[in-house]
Amino acid sequence: MYSRIIGTGSYLPERILTNTDLEQIVDTSDEWIRTRTGIEKRHVANDGETTCDLAEKASRAAIDAADIDVKNIDLIIVATTTPDVIFPSTACLLQQRLNIHGCPAFDIQAVCTGFIYALSVVDQFIRNSSAKCALVVGSETLTRILDWEDRSTCVLFGDGAGAVILEASETPGILSSHIHADGEYQELLKVPAGISSDYDLVKAGKAFIKMQGNEVFKVAVNTLGRIVDETLMANEMNKEDIDWLVPHQANTRIISATAKKLDMSMDKVVLTVDQHGNTSAASVPLALDVAIKDGRIKRNDTLLLEAFGGGFTWGSVLMKY
Ligand code: UT7
Repeated sequence: MYSRIIGTGSYLPERILTNTDLEQIVDTSDEWIRTRTGIEKRHVANDGETTCDLAEKASRAAIDAADIDVKNIDLIIVATTTPDVIFPSTACLLQQRLNIHGCPAFDIQAVCTGFIYALSVVDQFIRNSSAKCALVVGSETLTRILDWEDRSTCVLFGDGAGAVILEASETPGILSSHIHADGEYQELLKVPAGISSDYDLVKAGKAFIKMQGNEVFKVAVNTLGRIVDETLMANEMNKEDIDWLVPHQANTRIISATAKKLDMSMDKVVLTVDQHGNTSAASVPLALDVAIKDGRIKRNDTLLLEAFGGGFTWGSVLMKY
């Protein structure tokens, strides 16, 4: 039994922040942001607009695309680092909005790798027959934890959500998933405050992302190169068997390095970082939805999804669409 995607959806907040807008906020330039990251603009949630609001809109679009009755959904997972509240989980809040009752619903926190982790978990549920129809969402309001005085981070991130419905199927879907973590690298990318440590920063509204970007960049490129090898080897596949690379959208230069490792031309890579910035757990499902809806990704294409993020965490999913 395979986990197969039967519908995708996404949502981006209406408010857009361009690089030129950012020039008014911090000492940066459109030219620097474009050449170092590839980003041109990002979406920012309105005041009062929450991660669950974005998740709900993306989920409803995925449910419509899958053309299913919501009652069929028997598992909900939301990957997020920016939940609405400490508890209940965003997955439980979403379950209530969708008027679904009784099925398991929980969040996964693996920062930018969250959606890949969530797909990997869902695949276990479906393959061992514990679920038949799962809603998996990556949703973030990461701009809420940005320091708008820190030019090295505030230009990089955006808000958004992507969702997929996966169904148990005899037709091939997810072929393999590979997830990893190494907490040794926690200092390079973190929000150094939370509920049980440095809560004063949270109360003062100063729990912000801190990143040693250049160090993260180097580890990301090497690690993503290794995960490509691991995924191909596990499936006894060659580079040319991959039709589409759907990568985490942090930086065009990191994505190009992975494409180069696969000897893949950039027109076989789904690139949305220019329009969305880095939306953390939402970036892979957003990119997937964009390329499915515009007709680039077609049924039976072989897709390699990959991500890298805080923790560090990293992972990949190889699938037939
Ligand atoms: O999604 C989770 C994983 N995250 C990532 O994968 C992000 C990985 N890192 C990156 O994408 C890149 O490292 C960045 C885009 C964050 C930075 O690019 P970089 O080429 O590594 O630049 P850098 O950090 O080495 O900084 C180069 C220069 C510095 O100036 P000096 O010291 O050379 O004078 C920075 O102060 O660029 C300066 N700088 C900026 N200048 C204008 C840093 N941020 C900005 C800015 N505008 N926004």
